[in-house]
Amino acid sequence: MAKNIAPVYYGDYLKLDTLLSAQQPHSPRYGEEAHDEMLFIIVHQVYELWFKQVLHELRAIHREFQQPTLDDKGLYLVAHRLRRVLTIQDLMNDQVGVIETMTPQEFLEFRDYLVPASGFQSIQFKELEIILGLHRDKRIAFDQSSFFNRLNEHDRNYLEQLEQQPSLFDLVDKWLARMPFMQVEDFSFWQVYQSAVEQALDQDEAIIRANNFATEQLATELAGIQSNRDNFHALFDGNAYQQLQQDGRVRLSQQAMLSALFITQYREEPAFNLAWQVITALAEMDEKLTIWRYKHAMMVQRMLGTKIGTGGSSGHDYLRRTTEQNRVFKDFFSMATYLLPKSALPQLPQQVQRALGFYRAASEGPPK
Ligand code: HEM
Repeated sequence: MAKNIAPVYYGDYLKLDTLLSAQQPHSPRYGEEAHDEMLFIIVHQVYELWFKQVLHELRAIHREFQQPTLDDKGLYLVAHRLRRVLTIQDLMNDQVGVIETMTPQEFLEFRDYLVPASGFQSIQFKELEIILGLHRDKRIAFDQSSFFNRLNEHDRNYLEQLEQQPSLFDLVDKWLARMPFMQVEDFSFWQVYQSAVEQALDQDEAIIRANNFATEQLATELAGIQSNRDNFHALFDGNAYQQLQQDGRVRLSQQAMLSALFITQYREEPAFNLAWQVITALAEMDEKLTIWRYKHAMMVQRMLGTKIGTGGSSGHDYLRRTTEQNRVFKDFFSMATYLLPKSALPQLPQQVQRALGFYRAASEGPPK
């Protein structure tokens, strides 16, 4: 039976009355309206709308990871939604240029009327950070309590209860750690892999030694190689790995890290392809968010120089430091240290290949 669908009017459906009456500059209260305050308000509002959409996608992704089993259909949805987030992030990064059309002098015409409001109070942005997995103890010292102190009680309680829930990072870690691993009897993947990585590191060391560096530089370069060796060995040694975690050098659990490495190395295998797309999209999301942080920090330096922010931070300096400190999926980047070229990878035994693929060789004929 046809549904009785009521006619819709464009402006009513989109609540344009509400949306378009929500730009109310403060400068007229104190004299003439500062022309650029409208731009300042609209750019922030547009960002908040995109934050809303990104959170909508991330909450759905979060729910998928919380299912008792995450099958290929679920994983497809996760990858699809992450792609959408990445596209929005590109837009958000490009949009920094719009606010940069305002000069510092134009900004100064109304900046004083905004105190003490601050981007610190963007609850959606803070929710985004928390849902991804940026916990309080991982923030730079100034940020551990500072922004919470600038929130009203309602917002503070909301974010504090979010901090108690598993983040996307936690869920991804668990998902990777429970990946069925290649338990085929004569398959000693990690042994072969370890010696292949050792060889690659030996080769790096030989190149450094052949380079005739000055003594001091040679020592630094060799220390770098040694640190790579230590980190790599730690991947296979529970205690050493725990130490890396305690030192803040890795965040993923050991099992999750090994799974991520395995999936990345064998991403063409049909059983791993979607998982690899998810890992790559999470890494890209981290990268694009870092780019946004950096562009915002540069824009702030241009607007304020070394002045402090309206939220009381050191302004540019604080924001610049968050670009490195606030990264959540950094392990997916450092993992690249141990990747091998396809040609150096241990050959997977046939029964493993068959377990990973959805195909049969033409010579085998149709399944019986
Ligand atoms: C003239 C333009 C802008 C200036 C001068 C500016 C300045 C600042 C400063 C100084 C901070 C550090 C906190 C503080 O002390 O207040 C900050 C944080 C922040 N701003 Fe902006 N901002 C501008 C535009 C924007 C825009 C367009 C957005 C988009 C939503 C935005 C979002 C944020 C967010 C989310 C934070 C918190 C970042 C964090 O804690 O890591 N800002 N901003």
